[in-house]
Amino acid sequence: MRETQGIIERVRQIGGGWQQLELTVEDAGIAQLKPGQTLLTRTDASLDPYLRDHWIPVNRDTEDNTLMIERPLTRRHSPGDVVNIIGPVGLAFPLRPNTRHLLLLALDYAPTRLLHLMNHALATQQASVTLILTGAAREYPVSNLPPVVEVITSPEPMMWPDQKQSFGWADQIFAVTSPVFVDDYYTTLFDASRLARHALPAEFLYGVYDLPLPCGTGACMACLVRYKHDHRAACVDGAAFDLAQVRLR
Ligand code: FES
Repeated sequence: MRETQGIIERVRQIGGGWQQLELTVEDAGIAQLKPGQTLLTRTDASLDPYLRDHWIPVNRDTEDNTLMIERPLTRRHSPGDVVNIIGPVGLAFPLRPNTRHLLLLALDYAPTRLLHLMNHALATQQASVTLILTGAAREYPVSNLPPVVEVITSPEPMMWPDQKQSFGWADQIFAVTSPVFVDDYYTTLFDASRLARHALPAEFLYGVYDLPLPCGTGACMACLVRYKHDHRAACVDGAAFDLAQVRLR
């Protein structure tokens, strides 16, 4: 991880309580972060609050070192704001080069953590992408998504139309949910997908652990995920983990 700074060039409200910030980053290496990698930021010189904000890129333009960041509208930002940045945080989400059908699941939780992967799969692999929005995720402003993405909604957090078939045609699945629900929802998801496919291949079903990141360096152990034989830090080894390797409930 490195430290750099960026400037907010534009701010756009996209509806549903969300905004997108166009952020120009001085360090080209950080600006070229991969889908799944994130930033820890501070927007003023004081140390209050002490913990940095966790910013999630949803797209990037490598030609002019620009990242598109999606944030809730809980804090206002303005063009010209200077941002202190540490990053990139975490590893790239392990999208296989031969994935043609990508299933993204936002389980009762905003899909923001999945959107950079979605844009990358569309642009570089011409993948067909289906995005499932369940429960509270249905409040996300889908008009903001590329029209080629198939969007399916469901009021039930863990059920959606043609669920069994979707587990069958997907080459890879990435899911995100609230840290509050990860154990319950990922266990249910793992069981349902294994039942549908009879056996789960490795690197097929990933759960994203969107945990608070006090340090972002693997030092404080606040973001540990239980593996079958040890623990992994979401900030260093994640944030997407193969659910076949995670010790679920
Ligand atoms: S945030 Fe400190 S170990 Fe991950």
